[in-house]
Amino acid sequence: MTNVFSLYSTLKDRISRREAQVSTVGLGYVGLPLALTVSESGFGVTGLDLNADRVAAINAGERVVSYFPETRVSDAVASGRFSASSDPAVLADADVILICVPTPLSDTREPDLAYVVRAGETIAKWLRPGHLVVLESTVWPGATATVLKPILEARGLRAGEDFFLAFSPEREDPGNANYTTQTIPKIVGADDHRSRDLVDLFYSQFVTKTVPVSSLATAEAVKLAENSFRTVNIALVNEMKVAMEAMGVDVWEVVKAAATKPFGYMPFYPGPGIGGDCIPVSPVYLSWRAKDVGSAMPIVDLARLNNDHAPDLLAGRVAIELGKAGAAVKGARVLILGIAYKKDVEDTRESPALAILNRLEEMGASCDYHDPYFPVMPVTRDHPGLAGRQSAPLTDEALAAYDAVLVATDHTNVDYAQVARSARLILDTRNVFDAKGLCPEQGAVVKI
Ligand SMILES: NC(=O)c1ccc[n+]([C@@H]2O[C@H](COP(=O)([O-])OP(=O)(O)OC[C@H]3O[C@@H](n4cnc5c(N)ncnc54)[C@H](O)[C@@H]3O)[C@@H](O)[C@H]2O)c1
Repeated sequence: MTNVFSLYSTLKDRISRREAQVSTVGLGYVGLPLALTVSESGFGVTGLDLNADRVAAINAGERVVSYFPETRVSDAVASGRFSASSDPAVLADADVILICVPTPLSDTREPDLAYVVRAGETIAKWLRPGHLVVLESTVWPGATATVLKPILEARGLRAGEDFFLAFSPEREDPGNANYTTQTIPKIVGADDHRSRDLVDLFYSQFVTKTVPVSSLATAEAVKLAENSFRTVNIALVNEMKVAMEAMGVDVWEVVKAAATKPFGYMPFYPGPGIGGDCIPVSPVYLSWRAKDVGSAMPIVDLARLNNDHAPDLLAGRVAIELGKAGAAVKGARVLILGIAYKKDVEDTRESPALAILNRLEEMGASCDYHDPYFPVMPVTRDHPGLAGRQSAPLTDEALAAYDAVLVATDHTNVDYAQVARSARLILDTRNVFDAKGLCPEQGAVVKI
């Protein structure tokens, strides 16, 4: 019988020589860049994804993610070290399995680990002594040990004895050109020292810095702490925006000046609300778990509430500004500029822009949108009825026909000078026009 030390030593050697075969389960925003980074560092990688269309596109060398360098996927496929598959049997050849599946909220806005459970059940069928399994999906502290581990152990293998189990949160910032998977320090945690050593060694092969922590739950909590910090600060700056406006103070100028303090302050900027896969979700996971263990996080809950209501507040503000300009919101024509949840990404998940659009239409406005990343509105979970609409052209004539242009997302590749030239009323949630020094030629810009 093979003992744990020999399993550990064998995998350690294979990782050090980059001979270990790696599988990522999930090839989405997180799993695909990770799989490519691992393969670019010399490991053989097979990505497993249930989405057969995505698998086919990846294997055909398509770019797949808009902010990837043009040939990143095709180069990886051509190297012979990377391929994608929908067949779980590929896990049989893996030494290291990285789980990067979604962890959304349920319909009742509670943590939904169904994808992790399903991925775990699939892996359990192929699990063999000596495997290293790493969960990267965002989960609540305790989930890897109490939800995933029992599923993996169901066929008799034991974590820390027969296979190795670790958690390493994904800290990817899609669209951020300054930080890549390689340069973002990687938190690695496990409940036994061999799993911790192996996960640390593995990520050290391709990230510049690893940060080992003492347990699975600590590593899980790090991710939630980071995102909850953002949630609270975004809610705070949006609250300041409203209060300071009433005081006749421009919060953007305040944040810019405050950010010159070299210590004790970190700038957060106002906006139409929060979106994406992480910031709206992580605080729910943290707060839910706090209640589960008899504690509470009222500050996090309040920040969430503020952020959830931000699109409604913004829609109300649009109605007021339209009224000031002599147009009723009912029947007004509004162009929403940018529907992605943040600038320069092709991602509308939880985007506040869509919530604002929906709310304005409920109030009787007629809305179009323009977004260079979305010629056609995709199907979204929260606003499926908007799918199929087409991005409106940004011509002088079209712009002049709107009662208001609402800047919801400040993509770089939009001609804001043209908007300044032709729009009648610009409602700017991102301070684009002031920051660029663009003055409207015939209308007005209002920061909201
Ligand atoms: N997107 C981000 O910026 C980001 C950043 C940090 C952390 N995260 C976290 O990373 C995790 C993954 O997020 P994402 O944005 O990559 O999600 P995603 O929706 O982009 O991709 C998930 C992929 O997993 C596939 N999948 C689902 N179940 C599967 C299964 N059982 N087997 C194989 N494939 C399966 C889906 O088809 C999809 O392609 C989540 O927990 C998320 O919270 C995301």
